[in-house]
Order: sequence, then structure tokens, then C-alpha cells
Amino acid sequence: MTTTPIQAVIFDLDGVITDTAEHHYLAWKAIGDELNLPFTREFNENLKGVSRLESLRLLLSLSKEPLHYSDEQLHELAERKNELYKELIATIKPSDVLPGIPELLADLKQRGIKTAIASASKNAFSVIRNLQMEEQFDIIVDAAKIKNSKPDPEVFLAAAQQLGVDAQACVGIEDAVAGVDAILAAKMTAVAIGQKDHFPHAHHVYASTAELNVEQLLQIHEQAKK
Ligand code: BG6
Ligand code: MG
Repeated sequence: MTTTPIQAVIFDLDGVITDTAEHHYLAWKAIGDELNLPFTREFNENLKGVSRLESLRLLLSLSKEPLHYSDEQLHELAERKNELYKELIATIKPSDVLPGIPELLADLKQRGIKTAIASASKNAFSVIRNLQMEEQFDIIVDAAKIKNSKPDPEVFLAAAQQLGVDAQACVGIEDAVAGVDAILAAKMTAVAIGQKDHFPHAHHVYASTAELNVEQLLQIHEQAKK
């Protein structure tokens, strides 16, 4: 039996390579508390993979009274969240990479399968630098150059294009619903990390990155292409 080859694996960053999804949550929680908004971990699932300003809009939608912020005030709030976030990620170190990721990257490299980061975060380069992983991915898409945020497929398609591979021969790995939708819209194989019931459309869901392995990714991809 011949298997459909995978040309590239395209990774989300926050919540897939390292647990910065938690840092984003804590920074938004501080802003939410300050504004007396009932922001919960459950609601935070909606913010995952979503751009900074869109996340702020979602957070403010929790207000019972209508809020009237000027664009300037919105930018100021988003900037403050980012400052809090930057403080939290300043101490990230190589040992903060999530379990299974180093082994997966090594195996992909050995098999000649390319790798990329497709994150919505404008802090992605800082996080990768702090993890000392700059050399471990073939490319890191610059989020500042992406116009349409997830669930739009743009960032995943940009990754495939920059790698010079066919989108249909890529596997995307995400911890966000918006991210899985973006992978599917890019016609890639979608692998989710998290709770199974959050990702009904993913081709496969792993509870943890520790379970990721290339052999199974090949099978999932093969199945997805049938
Ligand atoms: C995504 C995160 O990776 O990046 C979102 O899942 C975040 O929570 C988004 O809002 C944008 O990140 P940043 O660092 O540019 O505010
Ligand atoms: Mg994520």
C-alpha cells in the first residue's frame, strides 16, 4: 500500500509549541477583571487563534451595558493587554516547549518533511526566540503581513506557499477552533490539540502534544485524502 506523502507540517504556536495560550488568557483576564467583565476560561476558548483587536471585541461583548469606546481607547486597551502579555512571555525558556514537540520536529526533519509556524501572533518571533527554536522551523510566517485572521486560511496558505509545497499535502496542527477552521479552509489535514468535543470537524484530536507522532500523522493524512 502506498501512502499519500506529507510535504509539510504547519504548526500554530500559542498552545501547540508552548503554553502561551495560558499567558494570553491571563493577560485578557486582567483586563476583563479591571473592566468588571465576566470573563471565564470557557469564554476564552473563543479568543484562541483570534487577532488581538478581535479578541478585545469579543471580551467587550461580555458587557451587559452597551460600551462606547473610541478607536483610540480600543487600541489603548489592546496595547495594555499586549504589555501584560509581553511581561508574561519574557521569562519563557527552552524547557517551556510542550511535550512531544522536540521529538516530532526531529522525526519530521529526518524524513525530509518541512515545517512552518503559522501563528496569528505578532509576538511569535519573540516566543520562538525565547524558546531558542529559530533554527527548528523552515519558515515562520510574519503575522504582521497577514490581512485576514483565522478562520480565514490566509496564514496557512502563506506558509505552504513560502515552503513551496502544495496545501493539500500539508498537515496543520492547532489548539483553536478558528485555527482548525482555517486549516480546513486551506484544504489541509486538520489535527487539533485539546478536548475532543471542541473540535467536531478536525480530522483527528489529540488530548496532548505528547501524543503526536509522525507515523500516525501519515495515517490521518492518508485517511483525510480519501
Ligand atoms: C494567537 C492567539 O496565536 O495570536 C490569540 O491564539 C492571540 O490568543 C493572537 O490574540 C494574536 O496575538 P498577539 O500576540 O499578536 O496579540
Ligand atoms: Mg493556538
